[in-house]
Amino acid sequence: MMKKTAIAPANIAFIKYWGKRDVRLNLPTNGSISMNLSAFHTITTVAFNQTKSDQIFLNGIPAGKQEALRISAQLDRIRSLAQVSFPARISSKNNFPTGVGIASSASGFAALTLAASRALGLRLSKRKLSILARRGSGSACRSIPDGFVEWIPGTSDENSYARSLYPASHWDLHDLVVLVSRRSKKVGSSEGHSLVLTSPFFEARLREIAGRLRRLKQALGRKDFRIFGEIIEEEALNMHAVMMTSKPALFYLEPVSLAVMHKVVAWREEGLESYFTLDAGPTVHIICQGKDSKKLAQQLKAVSGVMELVDNEAVVGARVIEENLF
Ligand code: PMV
Repeated sequence: MMKKTAIAPANIAFIKYWGKRDVRLNLPTNGSISMNLSAFHTITTVAFNQTKSDQIFLNGIPAGKQEALRISAQLDRIRSLAQVSFPARISSKNNFPTGVGIASSASGFAALTLAASRALGLRLSKRKLSILARRGSGSACRSIPDGFVEWIPGTSDENSYARSLYPASHWDLHDLVVLVSRRSKKVGSSEGHSLVLTSPFFEARLREIAGRLRRLKQALGRKDFRIFGEIIEEEALNMHAVMMTSKPALFYLEPVSLAVMHKVVAWREEGLESYFTLDAGPTVHIICQGKDSKKLAQQLKAVSGVMELVDNEAVVGARVIEENLF
């Protein structure tokens, strides 16, 4: 039976993917580094040849037109590799609500790519899976390998992929995901990527990025939390500076996001060490060491306006599972 199920984690980038050198292939302007998140995942079941055309359910409801087109385009890439044209039936579920600042495209396209390719009997290498997932959504390539991951930007379809730098057990880092708003964002990442050249700061960002990547990799290898933390905050603010100075300006932070960021800096001065990072939304990601995660979670939950907090550790990448969604 041509049916398989895969699970894939969301990931948080420490060095960000913001800007594409090739829009069709999702080749990034620069390399990025991330950690897979243990508490946020997508589970996707794909079965071929059960329906007349592609039938796609996301969190139990039929996919919208745009979503369906993007998913069928990804299936076409996998069908063409397997040299078949079977229609697919797909059910995909996130264990987190969409539109709260956790990207579902990374975990979603990673799980879809693995499930669909295995359902068609393809045994692709991790590198090839990462390349394919990238075509669905750039950051999805980082949800294929395990633990702490680097996306090598590359210059072509064949050499732009993510690989594991260290397994999840390398370092007991936590990402305390602090939800501060349920409003879904107005400008998604696809449009955001296309605006980078309108920011006068993007050129300055690119001048610094290679050095920042190198320093972050060193700090990750040595588990030097202070240096690591300083770099990720600098990087998140740098990306948001580009966003805010794009035309039109992209302004993702809410008052509570800033309140949380100020608290983290103040607690650090008192000796409780954590650092923030941000994606394209108001959600704040607080990175800390395992020994401090409980205390920080408690304090963060008490900040006025914080709606929910989810504690994540590093975790393995996409994998096939036995359980089926239909
Ligand atoms: O994969 P996309 O196109 O949704 O881009 C993700 C962009 C950020 O989340 C803001 C940064 C990153 O590297 O994950």
